[in-house]
Amino acid sequence: MNDTFLKACRGEAVSHTPIWIMRQAGRYLPDYHKVRSQMSFLELCKTPEKAAEVTLQPVDILGVDAAILFSDILVTLEAMGMDLDFQEKQGPVLANPVRCQADLDRLIVPDPMEKLGYVMAAIQLLRKELATRVPLIGFSGAPFTLSTYAIEGGSSKAFWNTKKMMYTNPELYHGLMRKITDCTITYLQAQAEAGAQALQIFDSWAGVLSPGDFAEFALPYVQDIIKALQPAGVPLIYFANNCAGLLDLTKTSGADVLGIDWRVDIPTAIKVFGPDIAIQGNLDPIALLLPEDKLEKRIAAILERGKAAKGHIFNLGHGILPETPPEKAKFVVDTVHRLSKRS
Ligand code: CP3
Repeated sequence: MNDTFLKACRGEAVSHTPIWIMRQAGRYLPDYHKVRSQMSFLELCKTPEKAAEVTLQPVDILGVDAAILFSDILVTLEAMGMDLDFQEKQGPVLANPVRCQADLDRLIVPDPMEKLGYVMAAIQLLRKELATRVPLIGFSGAPFTLSTYAIEGGSSKAFWNTKKMMYTNPELYHGLMRKITDCTITYLQAQAEAGAQALQIFDSWAGVLSPGDFAEFALPYVQDIIKALQPAGVPLIYFANNCAGLLDLTKTSGADVLGIDWRVDIPTAIKVFGPDIAIQGNLDPIALLLPEDKLEKRIAAILERGKAAKGHIFNLGHGILPETPPEKAKFVVDTVHRLSKRS
């Protein structure tokens, strides 16, 4: 098996710098559209054979060094009792947002095998298919990011309702965070038991919080999850998006690997994180539109800077955009492999 990804997570020597791409299975791939045209996004997530099929697409097409389970962070909110729908233009909609204690009381901490068994079934299928190829990454949303969807009822720009609850009813907010955290812990444990070989926690909206609010309302729950998952023995990756102002705090998450977005310079991250944490990132997703010679220079600069880290996993600084030409994604993967090959 190509285990460069797992080795880099642990800070061990590697034959080349491993790369995978956030959102690598998705709408920029014509092969994804082919499968997706036959069913809704949620149906796709809930049909293990199909979820496994699209998970494998970027492994076959791009040659990435890790697969990430095809699913969505929001399925946990559905499992907790929220009504989840994905609408074509609008993105995710949660029809019954959490705004008061009664809304919170209605949410359950589900048995993951009962409510999210389709995820574990997809993981088991994938481990068989990937056996001699690359490792499989499982994932969840971070409690703060999930709380924004639960409270806003969908995507948001200003996070008015979320921050309003934090500031005017912190007990209710912490109660929601506790429930999401408990759910996330059992969910990630079940993923590891089913065969996920690394776990990533996506905190897509962490960057909208001040360092003080991040420390008080978000970080302690990530720390709880990571502490609870350590006995599972798989590398734990925490990706807080837009985290330049939060580096010293994310350092204390307990994660083996910290994802950084493109707004952070790798040497700065290494200086803050110290010698015990591996780094994942951090090419600007829109840089994939650059001509190849300019793109290659940026890739080379990131690889060079990553050399000083305990371990470096190449990735984009956030998810790949649907407008990206697939051949550019392939160019990035090939270039990372070519430039980082150790003799
Ligand atoms: O990375 C992968 O290849 C695995 C699959 C994956 C998806 N979503 C598939 C998806 C992962 C890891 C996610 C995580 C996710 N989902 C996050 C965190 C990562 C990030 O990008 O910050 C968030 C915030 C979500 C919530 C979500 N899901 C939104 C806001 C949307 C709608 C906007 C959009 O991009 O379409 C989704 C839908 C979604 N999740 C799609 C895919 C492939 C598109 C669905 C479709 O129409 O086919």
